[in-house]
Amino acid sequence: MEFNRPVSRRNLLRSGGGLLLAASLPPAGARATPPKDYRVVAGPARARLAGPEHPETDVWTYNGTVPGSLVRLRQGEPARLVVENRLDQETTVHWHGIRLPNAMDGVPGLTQPPIKPGESFVYEFTPPDAGTFWYHPHANSLEQLGRGLAGAVIVEERESVAVGRDLLWVISDWRLSDGARIASGFGNGMEAAMSGRVGNTVTLNGSVSEAEPFQAGERVRLRLANASLARIMALRFEGHRPVIVALDGQPSDPHEPEGGRILLGPAMRIDLMLDMQGEPGRRYDVIDDFYDGLSYRLTQLAYDARPPLRAHSPGAPLDLPRNPLPEPDLASAERHTLTLQGGMMSMGGMSGMGGMMGGGMMGMGHMGMGKGAVWSINGQSMTGDGHAGMEPALVFQRGRSVVLELRNDTAWWHPMHFHGHSLRVLTRNGATVPHRQWQDTVLMAPKDVVEVAFVADNPGDWMLHCHVMDHQMSGMMTVLRVA
Ligand code: C2O
Ligand code: CU
Repeated sequence: MEFNRPVSRRNLLRSGGGLLLAASLPPAGARATPPKDYRVVAGPARARLAGPEHPETDVWTYNGTVPGSLVRLRQGEPARLVVENRLDQETTVHWHGIRLPNAMDGVPGLTQPPIKPGESFVYEFTPPDAGTFWYHPHANSLEQLGRGLAGAVIVEERESVAVGRDLLWVISDWRLSDGARIASGFGNGMEAAMSGRVGNTVTLNGSVSEAEPFQAGERVRLRLANASLARIMALRFEGHRPVIVALDGQPSDPHEPEGGRILLGPAMRIDLMLDMQGEPGRRYDVIDDFYDGLSYRLTQLAYDARPPLRAHSPGAPLDLPRNPLPEPDLASAERHTLTLQGGMMSMGGMSGMGGMMGGGMMGMGHMGMGKGAVWSINGQSMTGDGHAGMEPALVFQRGRSVVLELRNDTAWWHPMHFHGHSLRVLTRNGATVPHRQWQDTVLMAPKDVVEVAFVADNPGDWMLHCHVMDHQMSGMMTVLRVA
């Protein structure tokens, strides 16, 4: 995939607004003096998503590729990202999961005016946390993300982490119609009330993947990012035992996923440590079987013929250095409940799409639902992408510890994302969540009750919303203020 190295100011000026080419960039490993400048151009391009036997697809991209340029930052070092809008509509960029100043958060109306076509906006922040993050628009989000605007951000640890290879899989779901064109019909009301716009083509780093190359015996850090509008994934690595070492960029205690299934909702990231214990020359399936009856092979782990690098696994799991997250004080924390409501009531099975076809009824009829709203949080529906004058549902005194109880009263799954903070995940359905997990996007199954905690230390108005884009647009969104 394309890789955008930091650019010096001088190069940026000389490039005259064009796309920067690798030739003008410092060699790998060279550290430009901070702040690092990136230029990110949002604009139309073409990409071969569906494989060589299909035509190219018209997409919207960051710097001409799907996924967009990888933005590589360093923990604690100032970054400067110049976003230029060459789309024919307004946009913004949200740096998903990065704890940054409110004015840099990319929510139109709420934190900045939208970037008009032909205009630029400079995002400047110093990432406090190392890890795997991503960026995407927060304007006309359903269509802009659905047409390809998404890229990964890797914030490097201060000290490099010992691992054989550091790999990134940005996984995206597309709904393609004839001629590999992106299907129209964004914002279908029926879908919005159910699972959202789940597509029919899943790409790995921008194209359908047959196989990914590995050598026996190597240890890999595999960063997974789900950049889909709505598709939830449950990945199984046949013949392997992946160990989760970070969730949403935040290191956790290393642990194997329950049942060997890695649950990855839209907008979530998971870093795996993968010891390649397979046999040279063999291939192993990576399966996504989240939706009943709709499992498919994401790719294969293809071992080359070389003999194993080492005879045994290196043993001790990769333990990533913790990020400087403020630990909430649970004894003094204020407690609030956010209840997710609405959507179609499922008749029968509730596991993903399985139960949605047999008809149903809307679980609506409560207060505060505006036009086009089918979801709500505590009876209030904010629709769209965010706009000026959104009244906060809750206001926290700066520095307070907060426990939020998230209640999913709906029949559908929701990856709930909170801006500007990372959430300590305490309990799920009454059971303690182990492994010291922090997340910015918490995947909730139907009827789940999840307790999260955080220190409200980042002043401003922050979005909290479902990251199934159709759900966000149709009301599953609110604002929390840190004053
Ligand atoms: Cu990645 Cu408000 O979202
Ligand atoms: Cu949702």
